[in-house]
Amino acid sequence: MAKIIGGITTSHIPAIGNAMASKLENDPYWKRFFDGYEPVKKWLDEVQPDMAIIVYNDHGLNFFLNQVPTFAMGCSDEYQNADEGWGIPIMPSFKGDAPFSWHVAESLINQGVDMCTCQEMKVDHGFTVPMGLFWRHLPEWPVKTMPFAVNTVQHPLTSARRCFQVGQALRKAVESYPEDMKVVIIGTGGLSHQLQGERSGLIDVAYDIQCMEAVINNPEWLCAQSNSEIMEKAGTEGIEVIMWLVMRGALSEEVDVLHKHYHAPISNTGAGVLLLADKG
Ligand code: DHB
Ligand code: FE
Repeated sequence: MAKIIGGITTSHIPAIGNAMASKLENDPYWKRFFDGYEPVKKWLDEVQPDMAIIVYNDHGLNFFLNQVPTFAMGCSDEYQNADEGWGIPIMPSFKGDAPFSWHVAESLINQGVDMCTCQEMKVDHGFTVPMGLFWRHLPEWPVKTMPFAVNTVQHPLTSARRCFQVGQALRKAVESYPEDMKVVIIGTGGLSHQLQGERSGLIDVAYDIQCMEAVINNPEWLCAQSNSEIMEKAGTEGIEVIMWLVMRGALSEEVDVLHKHYHAPISNTGAGVLLLADKG
């Protein structure tokens, strides 16, 4: 039986991709940020998951504004990265697991989560930056992946509560897969940031910390907020935090907090890391 063993959250800012490529981990600007990932890397090296479900938003590489599914997932044995124009070197392709993905798709759709299934899917910095953060120290990617894209770009957007519910359905989908597999689920994006307009550069540290605590112990606090309320506090791109709730919905009601870390600013963004172990 497949099992979700834990959940992780991280920001996915392109500047992190460039810092990794330029080996700036010990640079004074970056050191504290990257130090926040060491316990997660250690845990992943210990538990050796077979599969990483990566919940992220596509920023225009695979889906442009003319075609934007609300929830889309990869159903392929391989996913390619490509140049998005941020200057990040193109990463080697990522392994998928098409039979696993199709099982998850079927289970989700049977549970009323009407997924868009993608047999071809290019993955952008929302996916590649987290992969690099957790596994770039290894000679090749040690896990299979399943990209799970949530539209947080083109309005109307889904809600925080819906993301949590979709996470709950994902748990059932994974747990009904007959093969023995250790699965981690990674929620990316956030925390507070706004990249354009009068409020560009906005970071609300207090709200970010509240969001992190809520994701651990009181997801209802975030689920109860409308998108307008979240964007007022966290900025227009801070709405990416709703993807952390897909991760949280997929975990047991109570979790063990193995690690948490927050650093701001990184680029224009509050950057939060959580490592939560599932209680089964
Ligand atoms: C930044 C943050 C993002 O989430 C993103 O997708 C692109 C850029 C930033 O802070 O620079
Ligand atoms: Fe983003």
